[in-house]
Amino acid sequence: MRVAPSILSADFGALSEAIETVAPGSEWLHVDVMDGHFVPNLTIGPPVVTSLREHTDLFFDTHLMISEPAKYLEAFRDAGSDGCTVHVEVGETAALIAQMRHLGLRVGLAANPDTPFEAIEPYLDQVDMILCMTVFPGFGGQSFIADVMPKVHQVRRAALAAGLTLDVEVDGGVDEHTVVDAARSGANVFVAGSAVFGRPHPLDAARDILAAARHAVTGAPS
Ligand code: DX5
Ligand code: ZN
Repeated sequence: MRVAPSILSADFGALSEAIETVAPGSEWLHVDVMDGHFVPNLTIGPPVVTSLREHTDLFFDTHLMISEPAKYLEAFRDAGSDGCTVHVEVGETAALIAQMRHLGLRVGLAANPDTPFEAIEPYLDQVDMILCMTVFPGFGGQSFIADVMPKVHQVRRAALAAGLTLDVEVDGGVDEHTVVDAARSGANVFVAGSAVFGRPHPLDAARDILAAARHAVTGAPS
C-alpha cells in the first residue's frame, strides 16, 4: 500500500519544498496534468516535471487528463515521469498502452466515476495499474464518490482471479476517513491532494492516510 500526495494542492510557487516535506512518508508523487480540453482546467507540462526531477527520487505517478496523450508521452518520459496514466475515455487505449511500454513507462489506465468496469476489463492484463477516479477529474478538493467502490472491488476481484499483480489506485476526495472504504474495496494506492497539502502538517497527514488504510484491511493499530 502506498500514498501518493498530489502536488495539485501544493503551493505551485514552492513545489520543491512541498515535495521535500512529504518525501519521508511517501514513495510516490502524483502529478496531475490537465489540458483544458479533456478537463476544464490547465496545470503543468513536461518542463515542470523536468525541474521537479532535479529535486527528488520519488516515483512520479503522472496522471494525464489530456485528450491527446500520444503526443506527449515521450516528453513526459524524457522529463522524468516513471509511470503515466491515460484515461480510457480518450480512446486508442491499446495503442497508448503499447506506446507507454515501448517508452519504458509504467502503465496506468484511468476510468472516470461513470465509466463502467467493462470499459477497462479488456486491458487488465496489459497494464500495471488501474486508476478508479473517485471524483470527476479537473479539480482538487471535491468530495469522494463512494459509489465508485463496487468498481474498485470488481477490478481487484478480477485481478486476483486472473493472478495479476495490479495496483488499484483511487484519486479524488481521499482522506483518512474515505481511505477506509477504498482500502476495504481493494485499492492499494491512495492519491491525496487537499488532505495532504491542505493540512498544516502534510507529512503527518500523508502518514495518517496510509496508517488508516493499513488499519482498515489488517486491523493493525494505526
Ligand atoms: C483531480 C485530480 C486529483 C486531485 C485530487 O482531477 O486528478 O489528483 O489532485 O485532489 P483531492 O485529493 O483534493 O481530491
Ligand atoms: Zn490525479
